[in-house]
Amino acid sequence: MASIAKTIVATGASSGLGFEVIKHLLAQPQPYKFILGVRDVPTTQAAYNRVQYDKSQHTLTLLPLELSDLRTVKTFAGQVLKKLGEGEGGGNAPSEGIDYLMLNAARSHAAEGLGPNGSKWCETYVVNHLSQHYLVHLLRDKLAASASRLVFVSSGAVNMVKDPSTLSTILLANSGAAPMTVYPASKLAALYGAHWWRRELTGKCTVVAVSPGLIPDTGLSRGMPDAMSKNNLPPEVMKDAKSVSEGECISRSMNTNSVTSSFGSPNRVFLVHSPSTTLPISTAQMKRRSPVHSP
Ligand SMILES: NC(=O)c1ccc[n+]([C@@H]2O[C@H](COP(=O)([O-])OP(=O)(O)OC[C@H]3O[C@@H](n4cnc5c(N)ncnc54)[C@H](OP(=O)(O)O)[C@@H]3O)[C@@H](O)[C@H]2O)c1
Repeated sequence: MASIAKTIVATGASSGLGFEVIKHLLAQPQPYKFILGVRDVPTTQAAYNRVQYDKSQHTLTLLPLELSDLRTVKTFAGQVLKKLGEGEGGGNAPSEGIDYLMLNAARSHAAEGLGPNGSKWCETYVVNHLSQHYLVHLLRDKLAASASRLVFVSSGAVNMVKDPSTLSTILLANSGAAPMTVYPASKLAALYGAHWWRRELTGKCTVVAVSPGLIPDTGLSRGMPDAMSKNNLPPEVMKDAKSVSEGECISRSMNTNSVTSSFGSPNRVFLVHSPSTTLPISTAQMKRRSPVHSP
């Protein structure tokens, strides 16, 4: 008997690791209903058209989402809810739930020039944290009603932030901070967000943060200097590097409960670098760090 399809809503699944995760899940016997927010719908559709998968089993919907513009986040959230049968006068049919929300989109550019749409914050921060934090707010009731699993794709780069009190300065528009200062700061803010949502949705949703480890061949390096390209990274860093296809490791945090159940404490957000390495960050450590900004 065919299983019931699980619904996955995701950002950042048009290319890079997010694309690998969806491709991996499309090859599974479990049926999925994917609703993906992407910047370029035709190009992403063409990329998925090249993937072989059973179209009678999975459904794939691409909706426009430009995370540097909070208005499109609101439109996207509305379209997701409509797609799931809410607000359409859908008779007595119950609306569908969201099984997984994967927040994966990111960029890694310097904080130079004006903030997007008049924001006081730099674009990397708006994309990597504020917009996706806002998306969770907009979907909150549906996520809670669905007992969803929220997967924040994080990064070991958060450890590069030595003084969290500097985030408010680094992440300002035109702060002049370099990519490898802005990116870790924005990912740390997003990790605070994950931790906040875990507390906020306790007893309703499962919230995890996952780091895939170093995967140099994705588009993430677009905003970074040449020194960060794989040809220039030192061998001791490159020895742990993975291929893009190994980025599907993120999907493990969606398919199993092992990430949280193996550590037990509800006060922890977990970063999984690889199957063998974990970096738990506790509530106590979080409290020593500065709060998350509002959009
Ligand atoms: N690669 C690594 O070594 C590494 C290590 C640790 C953590 N991570 C994390 O893994 C995640 C995926 O990164 P990746 O390496 O796969 O990078 P990537 O190849 O650059 O993919 C980033 C994804 O985010 C989307 N995106 C970027 N800006 C956007 C915007 N303004 N609006 C909507 N979507 C936007 C991209 O869309 P387009 O296709 O339109 O560009 C793409 O789908 C990120 O959260 C990153 O922090 C990566």
